[in-house]
Amino acid sequence: MLQRPRRNRKSEVIREMVKETYLSASNLILPLIITEGDNKKIEVASMPGVYRLSIDNLLREVESCLNLGLKAFDLFPNIDEALKDKYATISYHEECLYLRAIRAIKARFPEACVITDVAMDPYSSDGHDGIVENGEILNDETLEVLGKMALAHARSGADIIAPSDMMDGRVGYIRKMLDDNGFTNISIMSYSAKYASAFYGPFRDALDSAPKFGDKKTYQMNPANQREALIEAALDEQEGADFLMVKPALAYLDVIKLVNDHSNLPVAAYNVSGEYAMVKAAAQKGWLDERRTITEILTSIRRAGASAILTYHAKEVLENRWI
Ligand code: PBG
Repeated sequence: MLQRPRRNRKSEVIREMVKETYLSASNLILPLIITEGDNKKIEVASMPGVYRLSIDNLLREVESCLNLGLKAFDLFPNIDEALKDKYATISYHEECLYLRAIRAIKARFPEACVITDVAMDPYSSDGHDGIVENGEILNDETLEVLGKMALAHARSGADIIAPSDMMDGRVGYIRKMLDDNGFTNISIMSYSAKYASAFYGPFRDALDSAPKFGDKKTYQMNPANQREALIEAALDEQEGADFLMVKPALAYLDVIKLVNDHSNLPVAAYNVSGEYAMVKAAAQKGWLDERRTITEILTSIRRAGASAILTYHAKEVLENRWI
């Protein structure tokens, strides 16, 4: 045998020398969930190790992450049911919990990269990402709300705006809104290929944001489709996106690869709540080796072509020196 691939696996030194995929703190984005109140830290039942944090504790969390070299955060709010309405009006009100949280982080830690989520569901009494009328999700009317929300995020200090709503034309609409108001330097990380996935279940528990009726299949993509992801990605690129995101990540590695092969924009992938919950549950039962499973999953997402990974594991992998 002239070729014996095992020779390149014979020692740790050689294995490291030929290693193709690297994972570091700079690739990771930690999603954080914010709640109203003081000194609140409430664990999400279906996501062990993930908490709803009041703003004071959010700042403590950001500080300890920065000390670990983790510098990018994606924020999500848990909004009081009484403040929700059909038009998500609270989302762009000056005193909205979410906007206060962005301002608090940027005031204390200007070096932190704050990514904000644009979609109506956490603030909507219907629990949908858009305006609902007679059971339908209105596209163009929703864009106006998303535009106001994105502008409020920019004014509060967001570094990157991440529209996760899957309405048509929203990247272009938000880009124009930002540019017209002097925010030409604020980036857009678009959830380009976001699938109607069962893996978002634990996140909707965390935010109390599950749809009050129906599902999200008229705007989020069918898990059976791959080519459609390229249509979405191309549109977002034309409309001015700076990053293209694929979500979920683990069950969609082929889509990450495809989008990465077809665009020169950096690709982000969202290792979502259900993917996190599966690993945690199996690890708690002793059925999986937690460290090896998590690092293998994150490495696979990088190998598929993602530059950035949004993951609830971001802090623990650094804290435990797993990467
Ligand atoms: C909503 C949104 C969702 C997630 C991020 N933004 C859920 C949904 O579409 O219902 C899911 C994140 C996760 O599951 O970790 N706009």
